[in-house]
Amino acid sequence: KTKLQFIHDLPKVELHMHLEGSLEPELMFEIAKRNNVPIPFDSPEDIRKASVFNSLQEFLDLYYMGHKVFRTRRDFYDLIYSYFKRVSTSNLRHAELFFEAQEHTNRGVPLEEIVMGLHEGCVQAEKDFGITSDLILCLLRHFSPENMMDLLKQAVVFKKYIKGIGMSSSEAGCPPSLYVDIFKFAKEQGWHVTSHAGEIGPPEYVRDSIELLGIERCDHGIGARSDPEVVKLLADKKVGVTMCPISNVLLKVTESIPHSPIRQYLDANCKICFNSDDPSYFGSTYIEENYDAVEKEMGLSVAEWVKIAQDAIDMSWVEEDERKKLQ
Ligand code: HPA
Ligand code: ZN
Repeated sequence: KTKLQFIHDLPKVELHMHLEGSLEPELMFEIAKRNNVPIPFDSPEDIRKASVFNSLQEFLDLYYMGHKVFRTRRDFYDLIYSYFKRVSTSNLRHAELFFEAQEHTNRGVPLEEIVMGLHEGCVQAEKDFGITSDLILCLLRHFSPENMMDLLKQAVVFKKYIKGIGMSSSEAGCPPSLYVDIFKFAKEQGWHVTSHAGEIGPPEYVRDSIELLGIERCDHGIGARSDPEVVKLLADKKVGVTMCPISNVLLKVTESIPHSPIRQYLDANCKICFNSDDPSYFGSTYIEENYDAVEKEMGLSVAEWVKIAQDAIDMSWVEEDERKKLQ
């Protein structure tokens, strides 16, 4: 069996994927058309051509434009179901998926339409593909903490459909200390918590996300690498890092996959796993494409691949008695 076949066969768990980042250009056009939302491109091919980025912010500008096509429960259902269909041949067993409600609710889309459309997609995908999943409400740093708190309070009604709370968008000018009350409220509601930290932010943002916000996972986390104390904190506190190797290269936050701290984190005994972040904006690179890219550029050992697949299961929020089915 070849190494890539072995990697294909590994039972996979995805923990860092933004559903709006899996909106393929064809579906963007289809949804825009039925909702009569204008988009500043003439064809799906034009969007692919525009998906070349010099920074995280350049990506985010195009990415949030794409969010504007969504209006109805069906749109969200189609989005999540297309994702599951696309990854159904990757041996994906389980996914915990971010959705960015504020971009939609702040335009007047009811939270119920978003959550229930996505939830119905999760239920159907488990029936059709045997993939289990949970939803993570991902707060957005380009809106105010007050706007985040308003949304969280609305989300309490849908608690049973939402497994945890995350936070993304740019860290620039947004230190973790701004969000202490938000994370405290989320934890009081019984939600799990994770946050993007150390994507473009410094090691202190990773440390403060652990110490002030109490994050259980760290999304991206590559910024910790320049401070060995923070890398040790990730390992000691067992805060797993959901790395996104292709995203980091295409958004110019790392020079190449071997330049990312994958090797450093493995050697420091951190839990890590590989994820797709925003696959449709990164040349349709889903979870298996990320695994393959790491293998082709770094050649990890079989034992390391087994550990990484197991780390992803350990880092998931699947209840203890249901974990066996993921192995
Ligand atoms: N960083 C911050 N916010 C995001 C990203 C990212 O890589 N992808 C989607 N939202
Ligand atoms: Zn992300």
